[in-house]
Amino acid sequence: MKLRFLYLILFCIFSHGFSQNYEAKVDSIMNLMTLQEKIGQTVMYGGHWDQTGPVVGTDNRKYIREGNMGAMLNAMSVKGTRDLQKIAVEESRLGIPLLFGYDVIHGHRTIFPINLGLSASWDLKMVEESSRIAAEEASAEGLHWTFAPMIDVSREPRWGRISEGAGEDVYLNNEMAKAYIIGFQGDDLSKPNTILACAKHYVAYGAAQAGRDYHTVNIGEGELRNVYLPPFKAAVDAGVETFMSAFNELNGVPTSGNKFTLRDILRDEWKFDGFVVSDYTSINEMIKHGFAKDSTDTARIAMNAGVDMDMMGHVYRLHLKKLVEEGKVSGGYINDACKRILLAKYKLGLFDDPYRYIDKNRENTTKYKPEFLAKAREIAAASSVLLQNKNDALPLSKDSKKIAFIGPLVKDEYDIIGNWAAKGDRKGKAVSIFEGISEYLNPYQMLYAKGCKILGEDESGLEEAVSISKQAEEIVLVMGEGHHMSGEAASRTNLRIPGVQTNLIKRIREANPNKKIILVLMNGRPLNLSAEVDLVDAILEVWFPGTMGGAATADLLFGKVNPSGKLTVTFPRNVGQVPIYYNMKNTGRPIPDYNPKEDYKSNYIDVPNTPLFAFGHGLSYTDFRYSGLVLSSKDLSFSNSITASVEVSNTGNYDGHEIVQLYIHDKVGSTTRPVKELKGFRKIFLKKGETKTVTFTISVEDLKFYNSEMAYGVETGEFEIAITPSSEFKFKHIFNLID
Ligand code: BGC
Repeated sequence: MKLRFLYLILFCIFSHGFSQNYEAKVDSIMNLMTLQEKIGQTVMYGGHWDQTGPVVGTDNRKYIREGNMGAMLNAMSVKGTRDLQKIAVEESRLGIPLLFGYDVIHGHRTIFPINLGLSASWDLKMVEESSRIAAEEASAEGLHWTFAPMIDVSREPRWGRISEGAGEDVYLNNEMAKAYIIGFQGDDLSKPNTILACAKHYVAYGAAQAGRDYHTVNIGEGELRNVYLPPFKAAVDAGVETFMSAFNELNGVPTSGNKFTLRDILRDEWKFDGFVVSDYTSINEMIKHGFAKDSTDTARIAMNAGVDMDMMGHVYRLHLKKLVEEGKVSGGYINDACKRILLAKYKLGLFDDPYRYIDKNRENTTKYKPEFLAKAREIAAASSVLLQNKNDALPLSKDSKKIAFIGPLVKDEYDIIGNWAAKGDRKGKAVSIFEGISEYLNPYQMLYAKGCKILGEDESGLEEAVSISKQAEEIVLVMGEGHHMSGEAASRTNLRIPGVQTNLIKRIREANPNKKIILVLMNGRPLNLSAEVDLVDAILEVWFPGTMGGAATADLLFGKVNPSGKLTVTFPRNVGQVPIYYNMKNTGRPIPDYNPKEDYKSNYIDVPNTPLFAFGHGLSYTDFRYSGLVLSSKDLSFSNSITASVEVSNTGNYDGHEIVQLYIHDKVGSTTRPVKELKGFRKIFLKKGETKTVTFTISVEDLKFYNSEMAYGVETGEFEIAITPSSEFKFKHIFNLID
């Protein structure tokens, strides 16, 4: 009774209406809090459903009651969150509601393509819609907070987590970051269908040495500021409410204890006012890094560095109070952290109604809504990339007599939703490719053989698959990686299609030298497809396309939807080329155009420098022609912008979307500049025969970078510019930046 009464007092304090200043309200509650209660807000433990790592201690209900926990990870469902919230609100001394967080990465129930796939749509509206739907579904199950988006730029296909981001480019990652955040957070966090987003993993986690997860990162400050930090800055500008500090060390200092990135840059330079959560026990891991001597030390380092909340580590709860009392951590830091966390709760409306996200009716009616599934189908199709289409092998005709569908992923409804598929059901919900195809073909037209497993050396099914292939007029292979082969702790040194799948392709090609063979690929990273490109006619990269992936793939195969996705990450010729990315530096000895074989140049003696499939590459069933580029002026000044335009015409036989890309090259800089840099893109729709003019505006803002003194600015001089269908082109136009 007494506790409920206290809660009522708080309720009154906080329910004066949203117009009043949040901060004053939070200050008034903080006046009632003990130091340990403030520390309690900085603590996050796991719920009793999923876990993604070691759980250190389990007495969560007790901690909630004691006011020793501010947030929970992996606890969801209306019933589950209500039970826990009730303890916080009715049984803890101050009745402060809990925050419930979960990894809603590319959908919650309705699963969209993995994020690398989503980025290949280059469609910011679709990305925003996907995270909006994810927020609708997640919040209907009591969740307030997602640990997304992951905005780690990565040039490392060996790194399994490349699947979770938007690929290798800075500009694209910036744009995607904003789209995800707007989708998750909406325009009013107090609405029960919006959730907090979290920019992760801060920072440079995608630059792990040799692509091995959690590995060391050693990069200069220039590269940090020009490549890895910008998406996080974009996230701050988009109003992201939370950040996650990463697992990796950065130049010798773990990022969860890195004052330079967390306080100097994030707080002082960027003025971020949300809160920072650690990654899962990343604070504790500073002991293993060799940066802290014991767990007390980890708590001291992390809080002093600027990590506001300890995810799963138990070190803040156990050690911060003593550290403050001993003067090793400032009480001001605890106040700041607590205040930021309470402010987030306040913005969510939890002090107004701690149960506002807990609504049985919403839970029952929100997941897998037909309109969500329709959107997932549209987005999956837009995210797929047609890598190769010799002799217009695709689209297929429904009138084909018989098509053989062969491969371990043809009937899959388990891997198809990808690795980090939140609460997406791995059985009974996702549409397999075989099922999707059955919308287009009669059963007697569809032959099937699994052929082999994704992994392993077993070739016993190959014979049967080859014999089935011989009975068909056309062959569709559905192959790739298992969902667990990308994502966290899933780095690979071999980028080939795993197992005996390529042997199966070879055997099928040998047995059917003149038949059309289509390879549909599901995978979470760029693969080395050098062996397959000559064996098959067409390659359709569908990534892990999500709940409606099979239906979307069928739409593409039969031409109901024209492919429009383009790669956001380079596909190498082999793993030895890695890291390979489009915006590399020229070196002092680039290969000359006039003689690519000239000695003593920066090349390999066994493979060309070029990738197998370049960043920005993606085919369509129609053809697009680009006219010459027109500049409004050859001189750009500091006060005026210029425009660059091309006409793009659809000269083929299908209507289609085209992703038009703007690149520039700063020819001479006080620090060397990349050979090309994406500075804009447009996704346009052209009916067959139609022409549209695409215009980009260029201002000095687009040309800024951090120089060797770490000053952000522009330098006058010559810039090359191009508007093109992919990153594979040579510049022909120039403008000058003048004083
Ligand atoms: C991952 C994070 C994730 C967290 C919580 C960690 O292992 O690195 O991306 O948000 O677990 O599940």
